[in-house]
Amino acid sequence: MKFFVDTGDIDEIKTLAATGMVDGVTTNPSLIAKSGRDFKEVIQQICSIVDGPVSAEVAATDYETMRKEAEVIRKWGDNIAVKVPLTEDGLRVCKELSDDGTLVNVTLCFSPAQAILAAKAGASFVSPFVGRLDDISQDGLQLISDIVRIYDNYPQFDTEVLVASIRNPLHIVESAKMGAHVMTAPPAVIRQLYKHPLTTSGLAAFVEDWKKTGQSIL
Ligand code: G3P
Repeated sequence: MKFFVDTGDIDEIKTLAATGMVDGVTTNPSLIAKSGRDFKEVIQQICSIVDGPVSAEVAATDYETMRKEAEVIRKWGDNIAVKVPLTEDGLRVCKELSDDGTLVNVTLCFSPAQAILAAKAGASFVSPFVGRLDDISQDGLQLISDIVRIYDNYPQFDTEVLVASIRNPLHIVESAKMGAHVMTAPPAVIRQLYKHPLTTSGLAAFVEDWKKTGQSIL
């Protein structure tokens, strides 16, 4: 499973990239707003740190303007994935960009039917939002299971399932069991993956016992 980090925070990306846990980065207009920085500057900086796909989202919702914005955004780096919404206009832009060899991430996917459309439009990634479905008492992980199953039935679909809106480690582990290709999570959730109480208590015991030996390795 590829790990993308869902953030516009450069320091976080640098720190996580050093651990080898960052295969790509995703952003959205809310994350750019949170960074308080210039969109182009942030994206270009991320592209200079990370070799894998960096998702940058169009701001418009109509075909003409999205298409123009996509032309601008895709020139910001060789590893840009233009992010477009799962709408009729968005998928039209997706098809044109994909036919041209540009990576496209289709975002705001909430149903298997929408995921089929994204694959038919040639998306490189489809982003089903697990957490936001859970928030409205629908089963977000069931959506991942459905999409993976459907895509498996059609080997001609090249679209990777990019699990988004992740809120906890279980979302990642369960998606990995289902065979989702990629997940994107906030830095804090990626760090939660390291945690286990038995690791913490086991390490504390080893440190104490080592002190008793009176030895030093260095
Ligand atoms: O980038 C899309 C995404 O992962 C959104 O997450 O937490 O705002 O639902 P969230």
